[in-house]
Amino acid sequence: MIYLDQAATSWPKPPGVTDAMKECIEEFGANPGRGGHRLSVRAGQVIDDTRRLAAQLFHAPDPKQVWFYGNATQAINQALLGLLQPGDHVIASSWEHNAVARPLERLRKRGVIDVTWVPPSDRSPIDLTFLKRAIRPETRLIVTTHASNVNGAVLPIEEIGEMAEQHQVRFMVDAAQTAGVLPIDVQAMGIHLLAFPGHKGLLGPQGTGGLIVHPDVKIEPLITGGTGSRSEALEQPEDRPEGFESGTPNTPGIAGLHAALQFVMETGIEEIHRQESRLGDQLVAGLREIEGVTLYRGSSTDHLPVISFRVRGVGPDEMAVILDQHYGIAVRAGLHCAAVAHQTLGTLDGGTVRISPGYFNTEEDVQALISAVQEVSAACAAM
Ligand SMILES: Cc1ncc(COP(=O)(O)O)c(C=O)c1O
Repeated sequence: MIYLDQAATSWPKPPGVTDAMKECIEEFGANPGRGGHRLSVRAGQVIDDTRRLAAQLFHAPDPKQVWFYGNATQAINQALLGLLQPGDHVIASSWEHNAVARPLERLRKRGVIDVTWVPPSDRSPIDLTFLKRAIRPETRLIVTTHASNVNGAVLPIEEIGEMAEQHQVRFMVDAAQTAGVLPIDVQAMGIHLLAFPGHKGLLGPQGTGGLIVHPDVKIEPLITGGTGSRSEALEQPEDRPEGFESGTPNTPGIAGLHAALQFVMETGIEEIHRQESRLGDQLVAGLREIEGVTLYRGSSTDHLPVISFRVRGVGPDEMAVILDQHYGIAVRAGLHCAAVAHQTLGTLDGGTVRISPGYFNTEEDVQALISAVQEVSAACAAM
């Protein structure tokens, strides 16, 4: 099977990830931070070490700013629902995943917040002039994905961060598609809240993700419960990170994420991005040559290798089934949980086929996909 659905979750994982998880389960499967015994201390140590690595990767000055969750969606919900207050205005890009769009819509429908969606411009996936004009006195947050999970368009987050700082608005980035693939420096980029999955570009296991929160951001824990600290108080402690990580964590998953982060940092984000971009360029060049294929690239030149297309005469879902069943190639079809982005691209009626190669894919994998699409497209044209 050729796996080209890396934007959903990366697979396979680097060497070391499975071993780290197995070691955790077999040798120190205790509850971290809840007991003084040595197994609990060891489990807690793995989590602290992973926090330290994530802080280093994203340039967070203090590992306590890194909080772990089960995926990027949980991290985003903690951020938005814990931060926003009645009367707040939020500005979002027109490329948001449902992980951002749905919590915003829930708050909007309850009358808590007002939301402005910023369209793309001719040259950029986000119209910065529109964005600047949309800022009001009650604007509390600008939230944007770093890159679209539908067509890979990379948003200019440094410029948005500068604008947020000039207007003293909080800035949140959904790094679901870029963590482990593009350099992210929360301090240099003026990011107050950064949500990331552990299981995509960071190459860790499913069931991992995190949120980095600037210490000046006032935020309430979304989930309350046991924290292993201040147990005498009925009130939820707001100590960071433990007040924001109630309940037993996914220690085996975080142990796997630790091994994955070590791999990513040793290999180097630039090297990972270079390899993936090479495959993305090969894919775009190959698909462009095929009669009947429409590629959905945005207006800017900066894209991740996340490529959406349609083939004349075959629906995206049907195409994905053919690729799976006749060619053994795994891709994703449909709306990719991002209706807002498809509305922006004009592909809301059925979505697209999405191909997303990763670090462990090869030129042969990409060529197999191109040849398969060529065959299907030619067969459709002959019908
Ligand atoms: C841009 C974007 N945001 C958020 C998410 C949600 O990530 P997770 O599956 O880790 O919750 C995804 C997943 O595809 C995504 O692509």
